[in-house]
Amino acid sequence: MKNESTHRNTFQRGIGAPALVGLVAIAALLAVGVTAILTNIFERKQEAKSTTTRLVEVTQDTTDPAQWGINWPKQYDSYLMTAQATRTRFGGHGGSEAMPQEKIDRDPWLKKMFLGYAFSIDYRDRRGHAFMLKDQEDTQRLTKPQSGSCLHCHGAVMPLYKELGGGDPIKGFEASYKYSYKDLNKKLHDMGHGHSVTCADCHDAKTMKLIVTRPGFIQGIQRLATSDAPTPFAASIERWRAGDKAKPYDPNTDASRGEMRSYVCAQCHVEYYCSTKLPLTFPWGKGLSAQQTEAFWDSTKFPDGERFFDYKHAETGAPILKAQHPEFELWSQGIHARSGVACADCHMPYQRDGATKVSDHWVRSPLLNINRACQTCHKLPEEEIKARVDQIQQRNFDLLQRGGVAITALIDTIKAAKAAGATPEQLNAALELQRKAQWRLDFIAAENSMGFHAPQEAAKVLGEALDYSRQGELAVARLGLGATKVAAATPVAAPTPALATKP
Ligand code: HEC
Ligand code: HEC
Ligand code: HEC
Ligand code: HEC
Ligand code: HEC
Repeated sequence: MKNESTHRNTFQRGIGAPALVGLVAIAALLAVGVTAILTNIFERKQEAKSTTTRLVEVTQDTTDPAQWGINWPKQYDSYLMTAQATRTRFGGHGGSEAMPQEKIDRDPWLKKMFLGYAFSIDYRDRRGHAFMLKDQEDTQRLTKPQSGSCLHCHGAVMPLYKELGGGDPIKGFEASYKYSYKDLNKKLHDMGHGHSVTCADCHDAKTMKLIVTRPGFIQGIQRLATSDAPTPFAASIERWRAGDKAKPYDPNTDASRGEMRSYVCAQCHVEYYCSTKLPLTFPWGKGLSAQQTEAFWDSTKFPDGERFFDYKHAETGAPILKAQHPEFELWSQGIHARSGVACADCHMPYQRDGATKVSDHWVRSPLLNINRACQTCHKLPEEEIKARVDQIQQRNFDLLQRGGVAITALIDTIKAAKAAGATPEQLNAALELQRKAQWRLDFIAAENSMGFHAPQEAAKVLGEALDYSRQGELAVARLGLGATKVAAATPVAAPTPALATKP
């Protein structure tokens, strides 16, 4: 019977009951499948829209990122990752999880350059954004009185500026440098805004469009716009210059979205001056290069008429310029900036997440992320990309260490000349050369990409640093003062530097 039935079913033209059940089942499965696909598409569309669906209201004064995180959990989750320790050969930080490594211990010539300044007390590797306020509050540099301006780049300060300025944040900013760090930091916490960089610092709370908020940046970029320095990385500045200039350049309305993807970082990753003597200043009035920013500082005067300097070197008395993390400035001189590649392209690359693209808010070294940070543009194997970066950084490192040897020789030579009785007038030329050499060496040492952001410009700046150091020694030798004559005339070979591998 069984065989017969099988036989019949197989050869009958009609559809038997079991087959019907099968087909219905298939149809049902298909229907479920189609529904599932449709549901999936629907969900993904919703997901894509979810950037505009809000569960809680946030405003420009909502500084707690957790509140924003309720609306935008994916960005918030990656933002929280900035509390993770990161490390590459030259990036992230050495030292323990509790405390990043001291740069001034790793490179003793840095400490030598900074004698007479708080940076010779405590100067460490950077780490993730989550730590910025805490690390500032903990630094031993605060054993010297510091200005309230320090908070500009380490805390969620905009509501505080508004309050200080009676509703006008720019006014508040302009008053803030006169406060002590301790007082202003306390006020920030009392107002409930004791947070590191927050969503409102880069985003418009209504539209989530990128915005810049920091007055130091807005004034700095306006200064740059009114100069005649070429800005191949910012076509909007060149457009503004060609216009009637009725209103000052306004990055929030004039800049393209691509430009904003770098400007948001340039609110902080820049060279600046910060003390109770002058408002926080970004030195961009003559352009962004090491040479142009030096020219800006050289033409700046303190209220008492004295020429600008950051500190007098403890051993030589030279009026020194201290450089601070000029990432934006160095990047602006490189091929990536010229090609329109923004900070966020490499440091906040897109992550695919269902149908949406999420910008990775775990801001960190792109070398931990070559796949999304570089291979979107460079169709090369990851190993090859790594090797190219390594070669650029190694060359920069070698030249930098040579510069460290040269500046040490110059400082020691000037010290010896002073001991041998040289007057400040006699040493004037050498002290000016120390200022120029240190500015350039520090510019590349304090910049955090180990030359990558603009390799050829970095090499030029370091080449000049070496030249100015050795010229300074010659200036002392020409004085013909006994021991210094010999010290300066003896050729100093730079030892082959050890690799900067972090423990
Ligand atoms: C083309 C890609 C690219 C662009 C564009 C770029 N960077 Fe970088 N950046 C790098 C690389 C590569 C390094 C070296 C990382 C390392 O050594 O681990 C780096 C290093 C850094 C570091 C130190 C990172 C660390 O882990 O210690 C900072 C800070 C930084 N960049 C900020 C910026 C800023 C601000 C901009 C825009 C003005 C910018 N970068 C533009 C690729 C880029
Ligand atoms: C214009 C923005 C800006 C201002 C103003 C500023 N910082 Fe920073 N600071 C940064 C950036 C960006 C980094 C990370 C890059 C680096 O460490 O080089 C940083 C890193 C640091 C660090 C960690 C690494 C280190 O240097 O030991 C400390 C501590 C610090 N700053 C303290 C201060 C103090 C104190 C002041 C005021 C005198 C100040 N900052 C003012 C932007 C700023
Ligand atoms: C409000 C100021 C501020 C803004 C805006 C800002 N940064 Fe930072 N950034 C800092 C400070 C300060 C640190 C150092 C924190 C520390 O060491 O405690 C830092 C650290 C970093 C680091 C080192 C991370 C690590 O794990 O070692 C990178 C990379 C970086 N920033 C890139 C960027 C990029 C790219 C942007 C723009 C998308 C940006 N930052 C915007 C202030 C800022
Ligand atoms: C240092 C600046 C900075 C901070 C701080 C910041 N973002 Fe962003 N965010 C960006 C950049 C750059 C983009 C890319 C925007 C673009 O290209 O239009 C972005 C994009 C976004 C987007 C659009 C979708 C996407 O992922 O590209 C959302 C939503 C967002 N951020 C949420 C947040 C939230 C929530 C926080 C706080 C937890 C935050 N952001 C903090 C710089 C920042
Ligand atoms: C949005 C596209 C884009 C991204 C992302 C990008 N690059 Fe580039 N890169 C370029 C362009 C454009 C050039 C210029 C050369 C050219 O026009 O072909 C370039 C040039 C370079 C060069 C040679 C120039 C030099 O400075 O020596 C290196 C090396 C390089 N990129 C490495 C990287 C690394 C590493 C990353 C990731 C951290 C990266 N790039 C991310 C577009 C990109």
